[in-house]
Amino acid sequence: MSDETRTLTTRQGHPVHDNQSLRSVGERGPATLENYQFIEKITHFDRERIPERVVHARGAGAHGWFEAYGKIGDEPASRYTRARVLNETGVKTPMFVRFSTVAGAKESPETERDPRGFAVKFKTLEGNWDLVGNNLKVFFIRDAIKFPDMIHAFKPDPVTNRQEAWRFYDFIAAHPESIHMVTWLKSPWGIPANYREMEGSGVNTYKLVNADGVAHLVKFHWQPKQGVRNLTTPQAQEIQGKDVGHATRDLYDAIERGDYPEWEFCVQLMSDGEHPELDFDPLDDTKRWPEDQFPLLPVGRMVLDRAPSNFFAEVEQAAFGTGVLVDGIDFSDDKMLQGRTLSYSDTQRYRVGPNYLQLPINAPQVQCPYATNQRDGQMAFYVDKGGESDHVNYEPSYLGRGLKEAPKSSKEYHQYIEGHLGRYQTSRAMDDYKQAGDRYRSFQDWEREDLINNLSGDLKQCPEELALRMIWHFWHADEDYGRRVAEGAGLDLEKAKALPPLPGRAAPHENLAHPTYTS
Ligand code: HEM
Repeated sequence: MSDETRTLTTRQGHPVHDNQSLRSVGERGPATLENYQFIEKITHFDRERIPERVVHARGAGAHGWFEAYGKIGDEPASRYTRARVLNETGVKTPMFVRFSTVAGAKESPETERDPRGFAVKFKTLEGNWDLVGNNLKVFFIRDAIKFPDMIHAFKPDPVTNRQEAWRFYDFIAAHPESIHMVTWLKSPWGIPANYREMEGSGVNTYKLVNADGVAHLVKFHWQPKQGVRNLTTPQAQEIQGKDVGHATRDLYDAIERGDYPEWEFCVQLMSDGEHPELDFDPLDDTKRWPEDQFPLLPVGRMVLDRAPSNFFAEVEQAAFGTGVLVDGIDFSDDKMLQGRTLSYSDTQRYRVGPNYLQLPINAPQVQCPYATNQRDGQMAFYVDKGGESDHVNYEPSYLGRGLKEAPKSSKEYHQYIEGHLGRYQTSRAMDDYKQAGDRYRSFQDWEREDLINNLSGDLKQCPEELALRMIWHFWHADEDYGRRVAEGAGLDLEKAKALPPLPGRAAPHENLAHPTYTS
């Protein structure tokens, strides 16, 4: 039916003859309560908003597809994983991607300095696989129990409702493992030019499992074919003055003109194990796996070629979770990954509703119909078919009715675990500053300049004792780094250097050479 012949109705299917005026007693008289058409319209409107995401509230999405090369580097992908999505060539797996900022509210400016979310849903023939990543390859913390405190410190002050620099650094100063991420974030890498010209990374360590049940540790990365482009603070401020949604606009415009953004999907691999020879734990997401030892191996590519047709239905209600894996891709014991895995589906049952997986954006692709014995709950709008008889919504059935368990096709991956139950911190924390210093030294001059300006500007807004502790951290990463931030903030480096180690934290490595950047 064309728009000209379609007419307005209520949700009950009644024609709406007058959408301009309430029913009232006389021209000026009171409105009446039996006014169903008005009541339906206004009460639905009253419920139009769902809670925004507790983090990553501001975002933009796009549809596309993924194509595997069938290889991991020079070897068949099947050597490492039995996941069909990474093995089978010539298959275009439909995908949905949502990019986001983290701390800002749903309509906050997209120019904010923040990690960018890079959440990907592969709708594979074996069910969905979500890779919920960020643009930066590391994170602030390595234990999930710290996440709510971290986010409280980054979000607005509960008294003033303003984001305060001192609250951010107050949390960071107690966490040497954050200095690496902060070095990235306060450099131009903290403001990607848009969503197309940025990298993506799963950040956490996962496992690839092959048909023999053999596992390898893996990190996933997205490398943009468009290249990487970042902004300095003044550049970002200029854009923000004109447009608070520049990144969404850039993404939609590129798709509209047929300039489809593309990323190569890469993995880094390590044999499964503790790797005591490394100066970091491969399960510690505050560290990068050095690329000279663990090169990025291409496994496929993703192209985004369709903008959503409705923002609320497809972007706002999209639900990604780190627990959503396919056979051949598994969890590691990365403590962040383990904690995240509960959090996502938990918040989505609250934010979108218990039947959020029935929504088209979240349900598996049509060729992969799902069939569960889950029933009812708010907003259930269909029932999964239970085989020949819908009477049987349980399993097993002595009569052999209803849904059956799927046959096992590959050897199960059985991880051997032993240990004392307790609360632990990594014993490989002494080198928390090494990668931060490496990063500082590897930046180009303009990036280092912007980093120093941003940090010293922030520290001027902090109490002196906090600013000195931050300088102490930067100095342990690189002497030049600490010296320049101290100078920029107008503080005494010697006072900072004289501070004792952090209470309750491993002292910086005794042999730390305090390397220094020399141009
Ligand atoms: C969103 C929790 C760490 C990337 C979210 C949401 C929660 C959450 C509750 C909102 C989800 C929703 O409403 O649909 C956590 C917890 C973490 C953690 C508990 C640590 C223990 C991380 C890390 C990354 C990350 C390390 C990056 C690798 C994202 C992204 C989104 C998100 C990209 C937005 C997903 C979307 O676009 O809908 N997180 N997160 N998170 N998180 Fe995390």
